[in-house]
Amino acid sequence: MEKKLPDSPIGVFDSGVGGISVLADLAYQLPDEQYVYFGDSDNAPYGVRSNEEVKQLSLNAVDHLLSFKIKALVVACNTATSVVINELRNNLNIPVIGMEPALKPGIELNKRGKVVVMATDVTLREKKFNDLIRRLKYATNVIKMPCLGLVEMIEKGGEYSDKIRDYVKNAFSQYNTDEIGVIVLGCTHYIFIKDIIVDIVGENIAIVDGNLGTVRHVKCLLQADNKLTLNKSGKCGETRVKLINSSKDADMLVLSRKLLEKRLKSLNWCGTVKYI
Ligand code: DGL
Repeated sequence: MEKKLPDSPIGVFDSGVGGISVLADLAYQLPDEQYVYFGDSDNAPYGVRSNEEVKQLSLNAVDHLLSFKIKALVVACNTATSVVINELRNNLNIPVIGMEPALKPGIELNKRGKVVVMATDVTLREKKFNDLIRRLKYATNVIKMPCLGLVEMIEKGGEYSDKIRDYVKNAFSQYNTDEIGVIVLGCTHYIFIKDIIVDIVGENIAIVDGNLGTVRHVKCLLQADNKLTLNKSGKCGETRVKLINSSKDADMLVLSRKLLEKRLKSLNWCGTVKYI
C-alpha cells in the first residue's frame, strides 16, 4: 500500500524526467500546492511505441498516482496526451490536464516563415496534432521534426552533452534557418535543452513551449473546482514535492531533483523544495 499524503496533491506524470520542466513551472506559479510526480523512466521513451503500449503504460502510471488521492492529474507528456487523454478524461472524476505542442502561440509569433515542431514520432503522427494543424489551417508552413533518440539522451545526462549538441546541429543542418520563424518544443524533455537549440539556430528564432498554457489551465480548473490552494506564503515559501521514478536506478531521482532545482533557479524562484 502506498503511503497517503496529508493534503490532496496534484499528480504529474511523464514518460521520464521531461515533465519535471512542467512540475517546476507549476511550483513556480502555484507554490502552496503539494505535488506527486511519477516519471516512467524504466519505460521511456514512449514516443517510439505503439498506441496500445503508450496507453497501457500511461494507465499504469496514472493508477500509481491515483493511490495518492490526487485532486488533479497533469499529463506532462505530449506523447501520452495524444494517445490517452480522452480515455482519462472520460474515466476519472478529477480535472485532467494534458499537453499538446504550442502551435497556436507559435503561429502567432511567426513573422518570417516556417514553424518547426520538434516532438516525438507518436505526437507528430497522431490525430490530435494533425487535427490541430488542420484547425489552424497552417499545414504548408509546419515542418514536423521527429527527434528520434533525443529523449534517451536527455534521460541519460540531463540537459547538456556534446552528443545532444551534435544531434541538434545535425537536425537543423537540413534546413535554412533563415526560413524558420519559430520552433515549437512539442516534448517536455526538450525544454531542458533550449539553450543548446538557441546556441545552434541563433537568437532570431523564437522558441515556444506549452508549459505556461498548461499551468494556466491547471489553475483555472482547480479554481472552478474550488480546490486551488491559495498562495499564502508568497513566492518564497516551501513547496512539497514527492518524486517517484519507475527506474531502479537511483540516479534518475538524483537527475530529477537536479533538473527541477535548476529550472526553478532559472525562473528566479526564491522558494525551497521540500522532498517528502
Ligand atoms: N516528455 C515526453 C513528451 O512530451 C517524451 C515522450 C517520450 O518518452 O518519448 O512527449
